[in-house]
Amino acid sequence: MAANANRRSRIQATSTILDLAMAGVRQARLDDAGAIAGVYVVAWRSTYQGLLPADFLDRMSVDELTQRWGTTLVQARGPVFVAEDGGQVVGFASGGPERDRNPTFGAEVYAIYLLPQAQGKGLGRSLVRAVASTLQAAGHRSLLIWVLRDNLRARGFYEHLGGRLVGEHLLDFNAGFSVPEVAYGWEDLEPLTRPHG
Ligand SMILES: CC(C)(COP(=O)(O)OP(=O)(O)OC[C@H]1O[C@@H](n2cnc3c(N)ncnc32)[C@H](O)[C@@H]1OP(=O)(O)O)[C@@H](O)C(=O)NCCC(=O)NCCS
Repeated sequence: MAANANRRSRIQATSTILDLAMAGVRQARLDDAGAIAGVYVVAWRSTYQGLLPADFLDRMSVDELTQRWGTTLVQARGPVFVAEDGGQVVGFASGGPERDRNPTFGAEVYAIYLLPQAQGKGLGRSLVRAVASTLQAAGHRSLLIWVLRDNLRARGFYEHLGGRLVGEHLLDFNAGFSVPEVAYGWEDLEPLTRPHG
């Protein structure tokens, strides 16, 4: 019985990896830190224009973020996936255990960003599936994502994927300003791990 269940879950994991590879999504490697940092800066500047102070966005540094992502990838505390188009990294997502002792949601998507030209093509859904499947394989059952309250496009995406509004707080950027965020939760992350369509 247990052997069959293990076999089924191995087959499912292999088929998920194959699906994701077809969709252009793969696990991040250590040498992706610079590409991830580049996507991060471009996506933040376009997404958060008007939502975060312009001088804060201007000061973002690809070099500094490359170091930070290098450390994240070496520490490997949770899944990091990248999306590629034509061999170039055009997006990424990361996740791991929920960071604020939430009693209901055990895992969290920490970040998900695509270059503007890569949005709206299904890559966001595939990145969420990749992170959710890895978290599920690590034993997590539920998932949370924080998003700026006024980032309406991303909120629409999470609602479309079945997320339920489950929290709100003020996020202090430790840079002289705070911004309201809301949380979307999935009490069961299974639907996020299934192939679409
Ligand atoms: C938010 C983001 C990750 C979504 O990824 P994406 O690749 O653009 O979205 P997808 O193309 O995978 O969309 C998946 C599904 O969600 C739907 N969807 C996407 N945005 C939607 C919206 N605002 N409202 C309703 N449905 C939406 C799509 O129509 C699609 O539906 P289908 O698969 O059932 O046909 C991406 O747009 C992005 O990087 N945005 C900028 C950065 C950002 O805001 N990140 C989130 C920080 S918390």
